[in-house]
Amino acid sequence: MLESIKEEYISSNKKSWDEAAPRFFGRTALPIYGPFLPKENELKLFGDLSGKKVLEIGCGSGHSLKYMSSQGASELWGIDLSDTQIETARNLLSDCTTKLNLFQGAMEKNPGIPVEYFDIVYSIYAIGWSVDLRMTLRNLYDYLKPGGSFIFSWEHPLHNRLSQNGNQIIINKSYHEEGLQQCEPWDSPAIMNQLKLSTYINELIQAGFQIERVVEDVVIQEEINSDAVWYTHQKAVLIPPAFIIKCTKK
Ligand SMILES: C[S@@+](CC[C@H](N)C(=O)[O-])C[C@H]1O[C@@H](n2cnc3c(N)ncnc32)[C@H](O)[C@@H]1O
Repeated sequence: MLESIKEEYISSNKKSWDEAAPRFFGRTALPIYGPFLPKENELKLFGDLSGKKVLEIGCGSGHSLKYMSSQGASELWGIDLSDTQIETARNLLSDCTTKLNLFQGAMEKNPGIPVEYFDIVYSIYAIGWSVDLRMTLRNLYDYLKPGGSFIFSWEHPLHNRLSQNGNQIIINKSYHEEGLQQCEPWDSPAIMNQLKLSTYINELIQAGFQIERVVEDVVIQEEINSDAVWYTHQKAVLIPPAFIIKCTKK
């Protein structure tokens, strides 16, 4: 059972995501993991996907599931909080012949997803939206077959502790401070968990996972997007804007 305040955060986040969804259509989807991260073509964290049953947490507009289908996955499953995202994903994947199951719901709860069923559970830039990481990881662990992998990317915890003023980069928040808080670049309610990298790692270990790989590499593109305000080139030169973890169910 989730505490009532967390239920409230989930419901206000849902409203905000239903409105914001069109802005994020296909923005962070495999083979892309996130801003300035190496791509899956280079990292090959997923390995051979043919015949694999896969589940995406925070599947958004369905573009990563489409990638999974193109790589030969045998079943595509996804869960997302937003009705708008699920509807968009359903449309995007309508001509896909791979078996498809999509759920609208919060990753903190199991809406009827089978346990010990999946070869791979993954999440591309969504896990930090969990208002209860421990409960979320417990679910993900259950969904996987023994030996299955959980792979996820998210904003690096150092990134939102820095802000940019012109060419000046300022540390404006303590790295030590953790907890649920309003996400800075959003005008509408957007409550997310600010955690340390060690907390992600320790919570994965506590859930029973074995860590296989942590990626903090930064790929600086030759072409610099000078319009970017949140994920800027200047910050990426100093710290990793995003990270990836691959772990397995023992
Ligand atoms: C940055 S987007 C992920 C984008 C996705 N990779 C794609 O290709 O569209 C984050 C997603 O997490 C979803 N989300 C936010 N909170 C959630 C929660 N508690 N449970 C499940 N999904 C959630 C949002 O609705 C949104 O679609």
